[in-house]
Amino acid sequence: MARKLAVIGAGLMGSGIAQVSAQAGWDVVLRDVTDEALRRGTDSIKASYDKFVAKGKLEAHDADAALARITPTTDLDAVADADVIVEAVFEKLDVKHEIFRALDRLAKDEAILASNTSAIPITKIAAVTGRPERVVGTHFFSPVPMMALCELVRGYKTSDETLARAREFAESTGKTCIVVNRDVAGFVTTRLISALVVEAAKLHESGVATAEDIDLACKLGFGHAMGPLATADLTGVDILLHAASNIYTESQDEKFAPPESMRRMVDAGDIGRKSGQGFYTYEAHSPE
Ligand SMILES: NC(=O)c1ccc[n+]([C@@H]2O[C@H](COP(=O)([O-])OP(=O)(O)OC[C@H]3O[C@@H](n4cnc5c(N)ncnc54)[C@H](O)[C@@H]3O)[C@@H](O)[C@H]2O)c1
Repeated sequence: MARKLAVIGAGLMGSGIAQVSAQAGWDVVLRDVTDEALRRGTDSIKASYDKFVAKGKLEAHDADAALARITPTTDLDAVADADVIVEAVFEKLDVKHEIFRALDRLAKDEAILASNTSAIPITKIAAVTGRPERVVGTHFFSPVPMMALCELVRGYKTSDETLARAREFAESTGKTCIVVNRDVAGFVTTRLISALVVEAAKLHESGVATAEDIDLACKLGFGHAMGPLATADLTGVDILLHAASNIYTESQDEKFAPPESMRRMVDAGDIGRKSGQGFYTYEAHSPE
C-alpha cells in the first residue's frame, strides 16, 4: 500500500491527522504557510506522543520513530510524490479552492486529494480541479488521536477507486469509516448533531424541560456520552448555529431551522464554554 502522505494545514486537525498517520507508518509531509504554524503543529504532536508514552500506550522509541517520519515544510511543491494528500486548512471555500488548484498542478496523477472539511460540499471543492474523480472527503473528528470515526464523503464525481483508497488510508490510521454516498449539506454527522441540538434548543426555549434534564434524557435514556446542549456549549453555539443554518438553507427542511433563542444567544456572545456562558455557566478557565 502507498505510504506517502501530505497534510496541508498544521492546525488542530492537520497536526492530528499527521500524528496518527506517522504512527501508522506513513511518511508525512506537513505543510503550513508559516514556520510558526508548523512549530505549533509539531509541538502539539510531540506533546501528544509524550502523553501516550507516559500512559504506557506507546513505546518511546515508536514515538521517536513516528515523529521522525513527519517532515514540516512551507513548500507546497513537497506534495509532488505523495500518494494521498489531505487538506485541513481553514473552513473557507476560497482558501480550499486555492489549495486544490495548486494540488491539481503539483500532485502526481494517481494521487488522491482529500479534504477534511466539516461542511463544504466535496463537489464544490473538486470542481476547480481537472480530476474531480480523485477528490474525496475524509472528515476526521477532534481530537484526532482519540476519536475513532472518519466520515468518508463521496463528491458527485468521486470514483469508487478513490473512495476505496480513502478508506484504506483512514483505516490504516486505526479509524472506522462511514460512507456518505451523496454530497448533502452537513454530511451525516453534522446533520444528526444539528437536528438534535436544534430540537433540544427548541425544547429548552419553550420551557418544556431544563437544559440539565434535556441532556440527562440523552445520556441516561439513549446512552449518549454527552447531552446535546452540553455538546453545543463545548463545540460552540455559534458553530452549531452556523452549521444548522447552512443545512436549513440548502435543504429547506424545518427540522434544521435554529430557534430564535439560539440566534439571540450568539448575538449576545453566549456561545458556550469559550465565552463562559452558553446553555450552562462556566467558571473562568474551568477545565469542565
Ligand atoms: N476543529 C474541529 O473540531 C474540526 C473537526 C472536523 C473537521 N474540521 C475541519 O478541518 C479543517 C481544519 O480545521 P482546524 O480546526 O484544524 O483549523 P485550524 O485553524 O486549527 O488550522 C488551520 C491551519 O491551516 C493553515 N493554513 C491556512 N491556509 C493555508 C494554506 N494555504 N496552506 C497551508 N496551510 C494553511 C493555518 O495556518 C492553520 O495552521 C477545517 O476545514 C474544519 O472545518 C475541524
